[in-house]
Amino acid sequence: MSELNTIYLKDYTAPSFLIEKTTLTFEIFPEYTLVRSHILFSQNPLRTDLPTQLDLFGVDLEIVSLSIDSIELSDKHYTWVDEVLCIKNVPTNFLFEAVTKIYPDKNTSLEGLYLSNGMYCTQCEAEGFRKITFYPDRPDVMSEFETRIEADLNDYPTLLSNGNLLDSGELENNRHFAVWQDPFKKPCYLFALVAGDLDVKEDVFTTVEGKKVELKIFVESHNMHKTEFAMQSLIRSMKWDEERFGRVYDLDLFMIVAVDHFNMGAMENKGLNIFNSALVLADEATTTDAGFERIESVIGHEYFHNWSGNRVTCRDWFQLSLKEGFTVFRDSEFTADLHDRAVKRIDDVKLLKTMQFAEDAGPMAHPIRPSSYVEINNFYTLTVYEKGAEVVRMLHTLLGETTFRKGSDLYFDRFDGQAVTTEDFVVCMQEVSGLNLDQFQRWYNQAGTPIVEVFEHFDQASGKYTLKFKQSCPPSINQPEKLAFHIPIKMALMNKADQTHLDLTAIDEFDMDTQVYHLTQDEQMITFENLTSKPVASLLRDFSAPVKLVFDRPKVEFAYLLANDDNSFNQFEAGQSLMQSHLLEQYSILAKGGEYQMDSDLIDAMQSVLAHDELSDAKKAAILTLPNFSYLSDQIDQVDVDVLLNLLKQCKTQIAKALEQQWLDNFNALNDSVEYAFVASQVGKRSFKALCLSYLSYLGQYSGLITSLYESASNMTDRSLALNLIANSNNKNQKQAINAGFYEKWKQDTQMVEQWLSIQSRGESTSIADIKALMQHESFDIKTPNKVRSVIGSFAMGNPLHFHAKDGSGYEFLADQILVLNELNPQIASRLCAALTHFKRYDENRKLKMIDQLHRIDQCKSLSKDVKEIVTRSLQ
Ligand code: ARG
Ligand code: ZN
Repeated sequence: MSELNTIYLKDYTAPSFLIEKTTLTFEIFPEYTLVRSHILFSQNPLRTDLPTQLDLFGVDLEIVSLSIDSIELSDKHYTWVDEVLCIKNVPTNFLFEAVTKIYPDKNTSLEGLYLSNGMYCTQCEAEGFRKITFYPDRPDVMSEFETRIEADLNDYPTLLSNGNLLDSGELENNRHFAVWQDPFKKPCYLFALVAGDLDVKEDVFTTVEGKKVELKIFVESHNMHKTEFAMQSLIRSMKWDEERFGRVYDLDLFMIVAVDHFNMGAMENKGLNIFNSALVLADEATTTDAGFERIESVIGHEYFHNWSGNRVTCRDWFQLSLKEGFTVFRDSEFTADLHDRAVKRIDDVKLLKTMQFAEDAGPMAHPIRPSSYVEINNFYTLTVYEKGAEVVRMLHTLLGETTFRKGSDLYFDRFDGQAVTTEDFVVCMQEVSGLNLDQFQRWYNQAGTPIVEVFEHFDQASGKYTLKFKQSCPPSINQPEKLAFHIPIKMALMNKADQTHLDLTAIDEFDMDTQVYHLTQDEQMITFENLTSKPVASLLRDFSAPVKLVFDRPKVEFAYLLANDDNSFNQFEAGQSLMQSHLLEQYSILAKGGEYQMDSDLIDAMQSVLAHDELSDAKKAAILTLPNFSYLSDQIDQVDVDVLLNLLKQCKTQIAKALEQQWLDNFNALNDSVEYAFVASQVGKRSFKALCLSYLSYLGQYSGLITSLYESASNMTDRSLALNLIANSNNKNQKQAINAGFYEKWKQDTQMVEQWLSIQSRGESTSIADIKALMQHESFDIKTPNKVRSVIGSFAMGNPLHFHAKDGSGYEFLADQILVLNELNPQIASRLCAALTHFKRYDENRKLKMIDQLHRIDQCKSLSKDVKEIVTRSLQ
């Protein structure tokens, strides 16, 4: 990556200067915003080399004036090259002041200060603050902030920033001001500012310590009716964090603002979270079950960051998983505690296996703590977040809940107010548990998904049963060889005769309390003696480590586990293994031109799941869902997309046929008219109902059932299920009529329009021409990330049939959009590249066509470093 400037973890040095206090004034005018900063610097006592050079970051700023200790600097006193303003020979303690002009209305990158529907808002993580003013924009420089905002009273009656409101009042010319002060030291990536015309939903939370916290959710007035769920979710989050992690909120006020233009989900700015409106606004008419769950978990996630991220923050951006992995673990536990733990685990693992495993196997593979990057925004990944959470979960599995909690208490206590590293976190876990976690640290430094192969042997004569484990990890870019990981394998041996567990106390590496076997060597073996019959091993229970388990065992054992495993996750996994082996077997037959044949054992197994009376509806739905296209394509070398899609279609049709009556009976039984509520039992029912109808939809004669569900739907879950199935159908006229009707009815509701666009874009019968037409629709806007994700993202990630069109037109279309977005919003452009970078997975023809498009993008002269990094890494 020659032209690209790579940043390395090994080059980290402590900051030269620290900040006592930052005072900012924002004067907001229609054409521009004037930012005045007043920053007290002092030499960092940790820097024994006594530095005298001040380096500040600044991007897209217009300098009005700069001064040190009130003496104005002229341009011979500083240099400003490649984002860095460098001032030589500064004293040990001094006041730096800058006046800069910025143009929020021209800011389409949505980083720094920008406008969304006429409202000013900020996004500073990771490095957006440098687009606001000159600053040591790095997370290990923490400061108290005082922020004064001045703006027009009519257009921007609401003026917000972090912390508490100190003062406010009116000014001349119909302007007003507000002064906010945040007493907690923080890095500038947690700074936030909002100026707009907003309504507020209010509530109060009383902490365990008896302190009253004001809660405020700010939205555009037409969205007030969609704020109740977010407020209740916030209250649940605050209570849960007190109970489960002992974390109590620290300010007197907690605010959330919903904005329509946002690059990601949400942002944990101190005391002033800013959210993508799609992740705040909800009601039953417009929000699906999955939507409610997601909103609740993101509200939780951002709130939990107040401790895991804000009070204790990251030393540098290589440590991103310190806050993100831990906070995803926390939000995932929150959801599990509130709803259905087994289903949450299944959902999380599915995401990991379909999306993160692919990332780990592709050109962007990186450890959860990367050792280098070009553009940090490219590392807000499934690896840093989801795999990062799995690594924290492994610590939880190794330590058990009580000891893990001691470790997290120690971590928060010891590092409160500091910017720290992932080692600091692991060391706390080590101290409280006495476990040696040196080898465990490799999870932070080595990329790739480890493979654990299992071999078993039972000798009837001697009654000995042996399990042999062998671990390996495929090479990744810059990491040709990997050292053995410390892998917790939660396990049980089931005795087929009486369905009990065998006692595992006899083994050294087995921890009775946690039921975990410690795999630390490349190869490791255990033998059990005095057995009268061969046991059935239930391995990697609850998916106790993010690895690929390879265990070539008789199908009857999977069937046995599917029926009997008392670990919910492994019961699900056994069903998936049966389906996967059937699909992969048939794939090779179809690929050679053979004909598809259903396996009657699989149907029997599915039938017994349907008839199982101990399984909840939610579990049945999860178990009876086939592994998806994306997951399967990862299991096949150079997958032929047509063969795989055709296979899935035939298999689903056969399953639908073979169990038609059951699908129909279950659908009818579940399709009752109880009043909608977002509670686990109802959610489970609806997901099972959705599965039944989805299978039936393969049979053609059920389109009436689908349309009548659409027409009678009283909630968005049912409505969106029907709409999804209609989007797959080939009945053009009917589809058009329904889509047009939907739009007419809901066009005032942004979240509904986004879902409507996304469902159409994923529809099996939606071609590239249809996608282009959608982009011409009045509701589409390429400058709104949610719209881009709904149409272009959904198409590239969720419409394999047309995206992978043999002639390469899908790839060309995507590359065109990436090139347009590269100029407007590099972060969004770069995210879309992912769909092209996994070319190694596909057949030769497609692979070459994807590479062609990557080259075409690469030739663009004005490529942002976001896109450049991804494209360069993919092509190298
Ligand atoms: N910290 C935010 C969250 O996980 C996400 C920020 C993403 N920033 C970015 N530049 N991609 O809650
Ligand atoms: Zn986060």
